[in-house]
Amino acid sequence: MKVQFTETVLRDANQSLIATRLPYSKFEPILETMDQAGFYSVECWGGATFDTCLRYLDEDPWERLQKIRKKMPNTKLQMLLRGQNILGYKHYPDDVVRAFVRNAVDCGIDIIRIFDALNDLRNLEVAVDETLKRGAHASCAISYTTSPVHTLDNYVKLVKDMQSMGANSICIKDMAGVMSPQEAYALVSAIKGSVDLPVILHTHCTTGLAFMTCLKAVEAGADVIDTAISCFSGGTSQPATETLAYALKQLGYDVDVDTAVLKQINDYFKPIRNECLESGQLDPTVMATDTDALNYMVPGGMLSNLISQLKMQNAMDKFDEALAETPRVRKDLGYPPLVTPTSQIVGVQAVNNVLAGERYKNVSMEVKAYLRGEYGTPPGTVDPELIKKVLGDEQPLTGRYADTLEPMVEKTAAELGDKARDERDVLSYISFPVLAEKHFAKRKEKEERTSSYSIVKLED
Ligand code: CO
Repeated sequence: MKVQFTETVLRDANQSLIATRLPYSKFEPILETMDQAGFYSVECWGGATFDTCLRYLDEDPWERLQKIRKKMPNTKLQMLLRGQNILGYKHYPDDVVRAFVRNAVDCGIDIIRIFDALNDLRNLEVAVDETLKRGAHASCAISYTTSPVHTLDNYVKLVKDMQSMGANSICIKDMAGVMSPQEAYALVSAIKGSVDLPVILHTHCTTGLAFMTCLKAVEAGADVIDTAISCFSGGTSQPATETLAYALKQLGYDVDVDTAVLKQINDYFKPIRNECLESGQLDPTVMATDTDALNYMVPGGMLSNLISQLKMQNAMDKFDEALAETPRVRKDLGYPPLVTPTSQIVGVQAVNNVLAGERYKNVSMEVKAYLRGEYGTPPGTVDPELIKKVLGDEQPLTGRYADTLEPMVEKTAAELGDKARDERDVLSYISFPVLAEKHFAKRKEKEERTSSYSIVKLED
């Protein structure tokens, strides 16, 4: 049996360990080598890369993608897309989602992994449709979580719906690294038994389960696993590519990543990793195993948000209470998977409930929007008392929230005028207006500087 690898060093490993701060110039020299490794795909775009390119790295995210494409003509390039949220946290109208997907494919993306925090497929359908129309591969991802409503039957129903929607593959996305080997075996087997699509496992080493979880997923028939080159693996990142390739090959699986090339890639990234450790950009604690998420059933990132929120209010004495309140809020909200943005919504409300001394006395804007149905339909039943208390006579939305939004692309293009060079600029601006505007201004300044310099040179 064949097992393939998606290498994450350029996106998720970079995002999980060093907050996506790897500039293009740092990894450019190794791209041609990576192109020879035999990966199923290289995840290199989407997620937080777009934001950090504009915010911290002074890079145009679209140009970064085009440059990677040129250096890696033989490897499938992959991105992560948050369904109707694209790369942000709010919902965008359909014309923005379509334009984004179209431009991503035009710039070189082959595979788009599309997910929604609530697994509401209405938030995936437009992105999937456009991906297929552009001839790219639509990989539909399940936001993995456990709860009384997240049964194998419900997951099977979800992946069958994904298949009907046109998904080319199914990814199990365990963003918190809480999926156990047993759960992976059961879920992959159930998916393989119900749809005829490749299954990909995405997990994180956070709690230490990932290597075992990958192995059991492969035993159950998973076709692709997400891994990171070893020096950027472990901790909050993915399990190591070389380690899994070594172990799986020995177990008799057909593994066609080139070990010698993997070594070259790791040798290249090792000094970069060491620099990040020296500068403090890489905090060694994120590379260690942290089992808190298993004890509390709260993802690591959410736990640190909870602590910082309590510290800010000088209320660390309420930590145990807030931690106990978290699953109760999650239940009231119909068991959303705890992934951005629902993890923040649940966590903040749990702290509010504890600090106010009365449940739902202070309700955040986000919880209101959630109850109105702006994020989609929750997996379970939302407490009807809570809806009544917060929304009063207002009826929750029954349709798709994006249907209530006006198209934005043409209107924004007209507003921007010649500040935007093309539709990609317009999309950067729609996603991150302040950052994009700064980026356009800097770019113009740079261009003017070069043109006046060449005039001086001509007169010389
Ligand atoms: Co991830």
